[in-house]
Amino acid sequence: PSNSQHMEDSCGIRRANCRAKGGAPGFKVAILGAAGGIGQPLAMLMKINPLVSVLHLYDVVNSPGVTADISHMDTGAVVRGFLGQAQLESALTGMDLVIIPAGVPRKPGMTRDDLFNINAGIVKTLCEGIAKSCPRAVVNLISNPVNSTVPIAAEVFKKAGTYDPKRLLGVTMLDVVRANTFVAEVLGLDPRDVDVPVVGGHAGVTILPLLSQVKPPSSFTQEEVEYLTNRIQNGGTEVVEAKAGAGSATLSMAYAAVKFADACLRGLRGDAGVVECAFVSSQVTELPFFASKVRLGRNGAEEVFQLGPLNEYERVGLEKAKKELSASIQKGVSFIRK
Ligand code: NAD
Ligand code: LMR
Repeated sequence: PSNSQHMEDSCGIRRANCRAKGGAPGFKVAILGAAGGIGQPLAMLMKINPLVSVLHLYDVVNSPGVTADISHMDTGAVVRGFLGQAQLESALTGMDLVIIPAGVPRKPGMTRDDLFNINAGIVKTLCEGIAKSCPRAVVNLISNPVNSTVPIAAEVFKKAGTYDPKRLLGVTMLDVVRANTFVAEVLGLDPRDVDVPVVGGHAGVTILPLLSQVKPPSSFTQEEVEYLTNRIQNGGTEVVEAKAGAGSATLSMAYAAVKFADACLRGLRGDAGVVECAFVSSQVTELPFFASKVRLGRNGAEEVFQLGPLNEYERVGLEKAKKELSASIQKGVSFIRK
C-alpha cells in the first residue's frame, strides 16, 4: 500500500507498519486493567471496533500474554502491551480514550462501597497518570464504586489543573443494558427495540430506572414496576451470587463498556445525535454528579439532559437515590482532599 512504511525485524522479515505509524483514520484507545475479567473481553471487542486504530493494553500483571493473544486477530487496530507502573506513561501518551476497568470486584455479601479502600487508590494512581500523559483524553471509568471513583478522578484532575468535566464519564451502561433486557422480557419484545433510561448512580437504590419513559411507550402494572426496579437495581448482585466468589459481571460488562466506548468514539468523530446514559458532572439535581442521558460529541459529554417528567414511584426513588449518592460522592471527594 502506498502509505505503508516498512521495517525489517531481526530476521530480515518485512513488516508493514502503516497503521501504527498513523495515517489511517481511527482513535487511540487505552484499557487500564486489560488483563482482568472485564479487561480481556473488552480488549477483544475493542480490537474488532473499526473506529480504533491503536489499542494499548495496560495492567500490573499478565498484559504481555493478553496482548500477544489479541494481536493475532486480523482486524485493523494495532495492539501494544504495557506492564506495570513504569510503563503507565508510555501506555497513556497520545490516547484519545482511556477505559478503566482496573480494580478488585465484589464477592457475595459485599457492597460496591466495600471495594472503596482498595479501588480508590488504584483509580487515583491511574488518573494521576492520565493527567500527566494524556490530559485531553476522554475517560470511561468502570472501577467500583463508580459513585465514588468518578468524584475521586475529578479531584485528581482538578489538583493537576487538567479537569474537564465533559471528558470524565462514569460507565453506567450495564444498568441500561440490563434494564433493556429485563423490560423486553416482560413486554415480549426484542431487547434491541427497547430503550430504558436509567439515571442516578451505579449502586443499589441509586440505580433508578425510569420505566415511565421506556421506548416504545409501554405501561406496567405496579407489580411489574416493583419487580423490574428491584431486578435492575440488584442485577450486579444477581451475577455476584451466581459466580459464588469468582467475581462479578465481566462479559455483559465488557459488552456494555464497548457499546458505551463506541458511542464516545462516534461522538469524538463528530456524529450527530449520539445519546447514552452516564454518570457525569451534572446540574440536573443539587448533587455535583448524577447519571442521566448525555449527548456525546467532539468534546465528550457536551450536553447533560434533564430527567423529564417522573411519576410518583420514581420521585420517591429519586429522593432515596440522592441521599445515598450524596454520601458516596462526598466520600470520594474527601479521599483526595483529606
Ligand atoms: P478483575 O480482578 O478480574 O480484574 C481487574 C484487573 O485490574 C486485574 O487484571 C488487575 O491486575 C488489574 N489491576 C489491579 N490494580 C491495577 C493497577 N493499579 N493498574 C492497572 N491494573 C490494575 O476484576 P473485574 O471483574 O475485571 O472488575 C474490575 C472492576 O470493575 C471492579 O472494581 C468491578 O467492581 C468493576 N465493575 C464495574 C461495573 C460497572 O458497571 N461500572 C461492572 C462490573 C464490574
Ligand atoms: C455490576 O453492576 O455488575 C457491577 O457493578 C459489579 C458489581 O459489583 O455488581
